[in-house]
Amino acid sequence: MGGKGATAYTFGRRQVNRNVVPFRPSPSDRSCRRKAPAYRPAPRFGCQSRGGPATIHSTVLRRNAFHRELKWIKSVGLSDAPPSYSTWRGAMFLGDGLEILKRLPQECIDLVITSPPFALNRQKEYGNEPVEQYIDWFMPFCTEIHRVLRPTGSFVLDIGGTWVPGGPVRSVYHFDLAVRLAEQFCLAQEIYWHNPARLPTPAEWVTIRRIRLKDAVNMVWWFSKTPWPKADNRRVLRPYGKSMKRLLQYGSKVAKRPSGHEISTKFQRDNGGAIPGNLLEIANTESNSVYLRRCRSRDIPAHPARYPERLVEFFVKFLTDEGDLIVDPFAGSNVTGAVCERLSRRWISVEIKKQYVEGSILRFEDAPQTQRATAAGRKRRNAKR
Ligand SMILES: C[S@@+](CC[C@H](N)C(=O)[O-])C[C@H]1O[C@@H](n2cnc3c(N)ncnc32)[C@H](O)[C@@H]1O
Repeated sequence: MGGKGATAYTFGRRQVNRNVVPFRPSPSDRSCRRKAPAYRPAPRFGCQSRGGPATIHSTVLRRNAFHRELKWIKSVGLSDAPPSYSTWRGAMFLGDGLEILKRLPQECIDLVITSPPFALNRQKEYGNEPVEQYIDWFMPFCTEIHRVLRPTGSFVLDIGGTWVPGGPVRSVYHFDLAVRLAEQFCLAQEIYWHNPARLPTPAEWVTIRRIRLKDAVNMVWWFSKTPWPKADNRRVLRPYGKSMKRLLQYGSKVAKRPSGHEISTKFQRDNGGAIPGNLLEIANTESNSVYLRRCRSRDIPAHPARYPERLVEFFVKFLTDEGDLIVDPFAGSNVTGAVCERLSRRWISVEIKKQYVEGSILRFEDAPQTQRATAAGRKRRNAKR
């Protein structure tokens, strides 16, 4: 099949021929319209048995109890803290993030990624600490985070800036916080999250008097416990730009940049993508997601300050491996848990407001999952065939 040299392999019970290019009609070719094959999502979780992925679609959400797969929850001292809900990768707790952090044993967490309430002038409905008290309020969380992080662990903190009330002047509270944190942690890198969809506020300075620019960047402080946190930028490569693609295709002469750097032939190697810079452009424009639609249909208020999944996904892939344990002590609508679930990381999330916890469950409802293929399960399924 497929001519000389074709390699056929099995995927599940289907024979696949690697050398056969899948049929893709060109949009202009109306004569070759064929019914697209039914979309079958690839299994994302669990191990693969020899005969292919063992997939059992089931709802794995458990309310007010731990999923039976969460045996590790005992080892992190939380087995007697009833969760609001759990899945087979993690658990969401309704309560104070600081209390949950205090219960965790030392050096058991690979990544803390979070976005706490910022010290904004305009109060959010979940409450914000004023600038003057912000550092004192936040430092106890950071001390606990430092204690629970593994030596290879990271603490990724998304924090927005604010204005000094009454004037066109910026507060430096989030820089002060970084300086305080650097006494305990290593600053692995400062990352700028550019959200081009931000509204041009405060209107007085930005759109009326036109004397300031739109504040469209959040600082994302990446702290680590040691100078050597686990990280691999090969997992977050970006597609090459046009000029790099041209360079790879046609090559170029060895040349010097104005900075003095020599662009040697080494730069002509295809490494599978470009290494991202520390400016992440991610528009926060979610408006019709499953989470929002479900919130609307059940009359549950959606969380007003969610960070985008892509931001969390970037750091989870960059800084952790499958199976690693990730904590979000200010989880809100639990974007962190949902991303970890999808990327096969274990997670612990905490949120203090019941209404947000209730909304966050909607991210996990009826999510099809792949269960681990146990010997007993395989035997049962084979018997049914
Ligand atoms: C900026 S929001 C986080 C939003 C979240 N990243 C998301 O994408 O949905 C901060 C959240 O921290 C919660 N919060 C404030 N103090 C807390 C505490 N001590 N423990 C746990 N959660 C807290 C707030 O209720 C709010 O939902």
